[in-house]
Amino acid sequence: MACTGKIIFIWGSFLLISLLNVNRARNLLVALVCKPSSNTIASGFIQTRDTHFVLNGSPFLFNGFNSYWMMQVAVEPSERYKISNVFREASAVGLNVCRTWAFSDGGYQPLQISPGVYDELIFQALDFVVSEARKYGVRLVLTLTNNLQDYGGRPQYLQWARSAGEPVNSDDDFYTNAVMKGYYKIHVKKVLTRLNTITGIAYKDDPTIMAWELMNEPRCQVDSGKTVNVWVQEMGSYVKSIDNKHLLGIGMEGFYGDSIQDRKQYNPIPGYEVGTDFITNNLVKEIDFATIHAYPDAWLPGQDDHLQIAFIQRWLTSHWTDSRTILKKPLIFAEFGKSKTYPGFNISAMDYFLNIVYTNIYNLAKNGGTMGGGLVWQIFTEGMESYYDGYEIVLSQNPSTTSIIAQQSNKMTKLEHSLNNPHGDIFEQAKQRST
Ligand SMILES: *[C@@H]1O[C@H](CO)[C@@H](O)[C@H](O)[C@H]1NC(C)=O
Repeated sequence: MACTGKIIFIWGSFLLISLLNVNRARNLLVALVCKPSSNTIASGFIQTRDTHFVLNGSPFLFNGFNSYWMMQVAVEPSERYKISNVFREASAVGLNVCRTWAFSDGGYQPLQISPGVYDELIFQALDFVVSEARKYGVRLVLTLTNNLQDYGGRPQYLQWARSAGEPVNSDDDFYTNAVMKGYYKIHVKKVLTRLNTITGIAYKDDPTIMAWELMNEPRCQVDSGKTVNVWVQEMGSYVKSIDNKHLLGIGMEGFYGDSIQDRKQYNPIPGYEVGTDFITNNLVKEIDFATIHAYPDAWLPGQDDHLQIAFIQRWLTSHWTDSRTILKKPLIFAEFGKSKTYPGFNISAMDYFLNIVYTNIYNLAKNGGTMGGGLVWQIFTEGMESYYDGYEIVLSQNPSTTSIIAQQSNKMTKLEHSLNNPHGDIFEQAKQRST
């Protein structure tokens, strides 16, 4: 711990006046002196330079995770310890970025009860998530709505617009209908300008937040990325008009569209397109980095592990190349996992899958950057069985998987250090000289 020396220094003088109350004095000191652990995050915003993520001007690499449910679980005060547990257990194995939902549109425990109407208690649950992330040194990627109906998303916005008498009939009107675009902007503004009731810091000013994402996995039936592109441009400028400190991503899965025909061969199934275009959508000026997701077990059902792994390698390499050469922006592998619900699952197959993904991420990051890191789907803590989706990893219960995750964190940290100290680690050099 970096603060140990300081504790010892102050400890000496403090001891004189606190001999009778040693434990209390020590706790006080640790609380006072160690508080700067949260200043690690306060020291800077994650930014991009060329195709790198940077922090205070130096390359920033990470190993991270998804836990979409955090705000929902934090609503119940007696459950909040689970949020703390996840951040504690995750940061103990070096996971330093967490992607989670900053929306819950209508339905059960809605953050947004109806357009522009918010539940203060649910917002305080999100405040807690942000505040705990800060405490444990984990940065957040916060996603602003969903493509699918889970926790509201586009279908909920459509329903709200209909109730308001708008002549809309498809989820895809979300991207073009003025009323729905207005509703979405209200949400964006509400979240970005939220004053955290625990930290006292507005979300838009909080470096704990690494980035916003416009939507989880946008899709569209209308065309090959053009409709989504116009929407990304409008909403991207809107986000930046409120908050130009934070990075912005779209939240895409990475499917290729019509703009470069040749790339479509890398989609999981040729001809399987979802109305987005990885290239043109991510070229939008306000978008700072690209994302991809991959679920080979769900996307390539029935194909054996060998074919699924070959797919992942192609998927990663092609997007990495395009991010470097065409987009000139960094890339995050923002969702990947292996589900217990598909035939042939076992822990060693899962660990093998994770190892391959992590090795690819590391090699690409080492090969000149662009790849910032991966976010595994998804991390839980004990006692959360009701949230399981087949992809769950409980760090305290899956020792082999946890050790693979810890190794990756360690490798990414070392790589980050070597990039930031191109002449090598002086302690390491001294050690080598002495042996
Ligand atoms: C786990 O699954 C893989 C691939 O499906 C298989 O080759 C392997 O034998 C299985 N291992 C165990 C321990 O069941």
